[in-house]
Amino acid sequence: MAICYKDLGLMNTRAMFAKAVDGGFAIPAYNFNNMEQMQAIISACVETQSPVILQVSAGARKYANQTLLRYMAQGAVEYAKELSGGKGVPICLHLDHGPDFETCKACIDFGFSSVMIDGSHHPYEKNVEVTAQVVEYAHKYDVTVEGELGVLAGIEDDVTAAEHIYTQPGEVEDFVGKTGVDSLAISIGTSHGAFKFKPGQDPKIRLDILEEIEKRIPGFPIVLHGSSSVPQDQVKIINENGGKLKDAIGIGEDQLRLAAKSAVCKINIDSDGRLAMTAAIRKYFAEHPDHFDPRQYLGPAREALKALYMHKNNEVLGSSGHAEEIFRAIGGCGAGGCCGCGA
Ligand code: G3H
Ligand code: 13P
Ligand code: ZN
Repeated sequence: MAICYKDLGLMNTRAMFAKAVDGGFAIPAYNFNNMEQMQAIISACVETQSPVILQVSAGARKYANQTLLRYMAQGAVEYAKELSGGKGVPICLHLDHGPDFETCKACIDFGFSSVMIDGSHHPYEKNVEVTAQVVEYAHKYDVTVEGELGVLAGIEDDVTAAEHIYTQPGEVEDFVGKTGVDSLAISIGTSHGAFKFKPGQDPKIRLDILEEIEKRIPGFPIVLHGSSSVPQDQVKIINENGGKLKDAIGIGEDQLRLAAKSAVCKINIDSDGRLAMTAAIRKYFAEHPDHFDPRQYLGPAREALKALYMHKNNEVLGSSGHAEEIFRAIGGCGAGGCCGCGA
């Protein structure tokens, strides 16, 4: 093992999820690919005193380089401390949609504190096998693992699914028992990307399936992917300033608020951030066609992103104000020393 995440001041998801399940809130899981996104996430979470999961997708690893991303996460810990006068906020570095054992292993060896192994596209037995393999490796280093059952509609990396395959409640107990995962992503009507549903549709999260699942694995941490709401004001700004996004709506924030009060303890949001950033940049260019310094347009984009994340933490996930109790649960701030893994 090369790098221990605890030495970087990061933490795994265990204490975060325990507090989130008990407290009826969800930990925000925001994707990042560059410095401005990371700054917006951290400054929003410090200002709202929220724990946070920084997510790195396979696409982000390709785009930004995994070494840089890991150092950025380490930088995020220090940045959070600087912004908050020393304490920081609980930060987890998580691999989003890990495609296979090798990628998960590479991230674990590289200082990630949590990984997702996405075996949802495999037949059930193969999903169990690859997930259990990742768990066995990850747990040696106290890295937590998210598995997935069911398939979300939408686009993620290179995988596109036209239809949902809802998670079958009858499978969850067996899957959790056989794999030893720490959390389970489920498919109950959310969907990846900015084009989830057509205007006029009334998308509902299948809270009945969620309830069924909770009965079978009480208190077990549940994860919702594809939870962007596709803010219509941002789509409008984009299209009024030269964009050509087709009409679409996302998952209602009221639905997500309800889910966050249940065993759903991690909510993944990426597309809404992309829309907010793009809207701010398009507007800036339309108003300042003569400007060309990237700081001039990336600055307002970063501010728009920060405002979005603060809104999500305060009004949707309910994670604001929960940083301190998570630090207390792990016995101090994130820089508590290495787990003794021999790194
Ligand atoms: O679920 C996928 C996330 O939104 C990451 O997207 O693979 O384009 O980085 P990406
Ligand atoms: P959205 O596309 O709805 O933002 O979902 C992101 C996600 O699930 C990342 O894993
Ligand atoms: Zn996802």
